[in-house]
Amino acid sequence: MASLTVRQLDEALKQQLRLRAARNGRSVEDEVRSILREAAGETEAPAQPAAPAASAAATSQARVLLIIGGGIAAYKSLDLIRRLKERGYAVRCILTQAAAEFVTPLAAGALAGGRVYTDLFNPDHEFDVGHIRLARETDLVVVAPATADLMAKMAQGLVGDLATAVLLATRAKILLAPAMNPAMWSHKATQRNLSQLKADGVALIGPNAGEMAERGEHGKGRMAEPLEIAGAVDRLLKAETTLQPLKGKRILITAGPTHEPIDPVRYIANRSSGKQGYAIAAAAAEAGASVTLISGPVTLRKPDGVNVIEVESARDMLGAVETALPVDIAIFAAAVADWRVANAGEQKIKKQAGAAVPQLSLTENPDILSTIAHRSKDRPPLVIGFAAETENVIANAKAKLARKGCDWILANDVSPATGIMGGDSNTIHLVTKDGVDDWPPQSKEEAAAMLIAKIAATIGKDRP
Ligand code: C5P
Repeated sequence: MASLTVRQLDEALKQQLRLRAARNGRSVEDEVRSILREAAGETEAPAQPAAPAASAAATSQARVLLIIGGGIAAYKSLDLIRRLKERGYAVRCILTQAAAEFVTPLAAGALAGGRVYTDLFNPDHEFDVGHIRLARETDLVVVAPATADLMAKMAQGLVGDLATAVLLATRAKILLAPAMNPAMWSHKATQRNLSQLKADGVALIGPNAGEMAERGEHGKGRMAEPLEIAGAVDRLLKAETTLQPLKGKRILITAGPTHEPIDPVRYIANRSSGKQGYAIAAAAAEAGASVTLISGPVTLRKPDGVNVIEVESARDMLGAVETALPVDIAIFAAAVADWRVANAGEQKIKKQAGAAVPQLSLTENPDILSTIAHRSKDRPPLVIGFAAETENVIANAKAKLARKGCDWILANDVSPATGIMGGDSNTIHLVTKDGVDDWPPQSKEEAAAMLIAKIAATIGKDRP
């Protein structure tokens, strides 16, 4: 009987097969089998998950991608696979070339209950799952043992094999379980790499101190025990789901004042510090959201993990906001100048003896909040504005909610006596179409956390 392999098919057919397989959650080989069965008139068998991660998606089982590095501690990683499976995690496994010198793909695969991935350039594997899918279809990446070599490559973002490609491509949290000789661990280069990795947000378990595999060697460098690593996985995955209620959500936030030019060196501004908007951006990023912060000129540190776009004028801010759409939630905390100078000078306006004082004529700026809230296309499902008032705070905020077409207004009294404008605390009244919720006086960070908690509690429901 003649035989034909998938690799011999032409590119267009392979592409079609790959798409069909991906849609059905099968490997390409299983897809071919299913097509042949169909052609032979057999009833279609239900799609068999190609790998643990696929079944995980169906059962919302948490997915762990375990990268086994090349060190003697790799033998403990086989036990780690068992411990993770016992806890109900779907485990996929990558072995570096060096790791395959210590444990076999067969052993790791048998314990993981699926194929083990080893090669970046293996045409079958790339064709079937691919390093980008391996990197994306996971909730946590665990590197155990994390060798000095792997840590050095990660710290520099180097890619030379499947493991390092996945580590660079993943958006999931990474947990390292380092294991190496104590001299290598305490070496300045390793410690430098470690600091870099920590700054990059990588989590760490171990290494422990004790007897090393090499006879007569003691010190810090033993890989954490499989049960300890599994415990760290539990903690991280729990944190991912319970402490990151906005994971997968895109949030846009405006903050700070705008500067409206009078001429190239002078401008009209206001006293907004940007603190409240920046605090909201930081809280949203901590809650796992993907955050774009469109900021007027401020002197604040950029919050970690936030995409900050710096603008000056109201018109620039509107342009940046429109470019950032679509988003799930838009929060307009900026103190946008209501007016700009209509006759702004192209050149610096000169003071001339005896000449008349220049007259500035003002024209209205676009209302960014109102423009976005009234959009028919790409209107964010939840649009939140602020109302900084000096009198009749609630009544003005209610009127603003209707006029601007937003879903919530955070109203606050910014009369000079309150010290809110530019200060560190805030007293907010949340005005929605359902009523008014008075929040206690609190720091701008606490107010931001309260807003993010309120958003997280709301977006699961039917409407804002
Ligand atoms: O009308 P008022 O300036 O009080 O409205 C405040 C709210 O509207 C804030 O959320 C502010 O960010 C937003 N706003 C805006 N564009 C403007 C003026 C205000 O987005 N031109």
